[in-house]
Amino acid sequence: MKRLTLHGRIRSCRILVGESFQNLDSYCPRDETLLVTDRRVFGLHLPLFSGWRVLFIGRGEGAKTLAVVEGLLEEFLRRGADRRTTIAAVGGGVVCDVAGLAASLYMRGLRLGLVPTTLLAQVDAAVGGKNGVNFEGYKNLLGTFRQPDFVLTDPAFLTTLPRREIRNGLAEIVKAAVISDGGMVRFLEKNAARALALEPDVMAGLVERSLRTKIRVVESDEFEGGPRRLLNFGHTLGHALEKAGSYSHGQAVAVGMSAAARLSAGMGFIPRGEADRLLRLLRSLGLPTSAGKAGRKALAALAKDKKRSGTDIQFVFLQDALGRAAARPISLGDLKEALRAVC
Ligand SMILES: NC(=O)c1ccc[n+]([C@@H]2O[C@H](COP(=O)([O-])OP(=O)(O)OC[C@H]3O[C@@H](n4cnc5c(N)ncnc54)[C@H](O)[C@@H]3O)[C@@H](O)[C@H]2O)c1
Repeated sequence: MKRLTLHGRIRSCRILVGESFQNLDSYCPRDETLLVTDRRVFGLHLPLFSGWRVLFIGRGEGAKTLAVVEGLLEEFLRRGADRRTTIAAVGGGVVCDVAGLAASLYMRGLRLGLVPTTLLAQVDAAVGGKNGVNFEGYKNLLGTFRQPDFVLTDPAFLTTLPRREIRNGLAEIVKAAVISDGGMVRFLEKNAARALALEPDVMAGLVERSLRTKIRVVESDEFEGGPRRLLNFGHTLGHALEKAGSYSHGQAVAVGMSAAARLSAGMGFIPRGEADRLLRLLRSLGLPTSAGKAGRKALAALAKDKKRSGTDIQFVFLQDALGRAAARPISLGDLKEALRAVC
């Protein structure tokens, strides 16, 4: 097990990488903790939940609503939650985001632990202090910034993940590498097959390295005024594609990253060969690199991206080579035009 710390401006978060869920009660006593999970995670890992008080929310993006948060808050009250209570979310990014928001609201903030059970949540969603729900068709429009007290990543959860969810996580690992860690890009290029097979030593290295990138970026800009935007690489078009249907989050981000790389090359920010390198890496991980018809639909939905400011949008481009990125404002009209050519 490795201990990392994210030093937030208001509170810091301990990240226990590779810790066993069996040790959860060393971080939150059973009688003062409410676990929040979904029925799939609960069913697949039933013995782990024995002896814990467990609350359930629905599965998938459809559960990211204020009504679900309200349901949890009612349960907290019914179960007598007070300032000594820890809320521990055990699940994918949806469970972490929803339980995190509920915990941050109840009595102005309960102690929060996150136990991410998908690869995507282990390398991305659980770390950084953002939570949120969707609202009126806008993704993650409502939420708060609040660092959890701890995040515990147990690789044992990954053994029950469907391949599609593994690929979703790998897309975010690629993102972490291409925005700030050229060495990790080379490691991924050499070890794509071993990563897809979830080889423990390869995965342990990738999870830790992705987390170190996320910690570094978040510590430099916790409340997303500048560098944290880099974590949105591939997500502008990615979110729109996901919303338009047919793609999972990871697939959509993979297509979004491919388009952003082609665009970066087209605008002269990186050599074309570097964009091709990213596309090859994504394909070797079983991820798509172009969208076709879905791309055109997604472009129409782009105006709904919450990162737009006025008619300009903060778009993350690659810079010089894989391993460096920069956010630049671009008008929505220009972006749509440029993306149409590369989708
Ligand atoms: N807060 C943040 O900073 C942040 C960052 C990135 C993504 N997110 C959010 O995370 C969400 C996506 O998270 P996700 O990809 O984990 O999806 P998810 O939470 O919807 O989980 C995907 C599916 O996997 C199942 N699952 C979870 N753990 C499992 C396991 N160990 N074995 C088998 N099945 C398992 C879940 O029941 C669910 O059906 C999105 O809503 C996104 O907005 C948040």
